[in-house]
Amino acid sequence: MSTHVNLQTPDTPKPPDGSSITFSELIEYLNSQTSPPSLEEINSWLSNVEIVAADLEDYIGFKEGNYWRHRVCRNEAVEMLVICWRPGQKTPIHDHNGSHGAVRVHQGLMCETVFAFDNEKGLCYDSGRDCTVGTVTGAAVPDIHQLGNPELSGQDLITIHVYSPPLGVLKTYKLGSSQVDLYTPNDFPT
Ligand SMILES: [Fe+2]
Repeated sequence: MSTHVNLQTPDTPKPPDGSSITFSELIEYLNSQTSPPSLEEINSWLSNVEIVAADLEDYIGFKEGNYWRHRVCRNEAVEMLVICWRPGQKTPIHDHNGSHGAVRVHQGLMCETVFAFDNEKGLCYDSGRDCTVGTVTGAAVPDIHQLGNPELSGQDLITIHVYSPPLGVLKTYKLGSSQVDLYTPNDFPT
């Protein structure tokens, strides 16, 4: 008798590992998930999706005050967003409060800063990097990070985000502080 435990229902469609998929197929896969896909699966899907301009036209829009989140799909297991950022727009420092997720840079340049939480010093800088077009970067639980479009990038940024389970109330942090605040979903960018 097999001891293998299959956490996915047998009829949940999944793309074969490493094969390219269209944006419509990705939406179909996400909508069909009945339990949260792993970070590895999300990374693989975002790495293998081939996106053309027409796929995103319903989800492109920029605001001057803050970056703009556009939801593509959402169910109990997973959600996908397209986020549009003008230069200088960035998230607060945050974690995903139990969700994991990944981001793909579709256009522009995204900066990602990762932080560590020290019980004595509070929140500390850990590392930072610039992500160019095509980069897929994942955030596990409980990674603390900040994403943004650098002020001096001189270009708009468009990113595609998949979170599992969908983001709920998130935690935000301040550098050098042990204070943790909560944000409700819709006011909060990713
Ligand atoms: Fe995030």
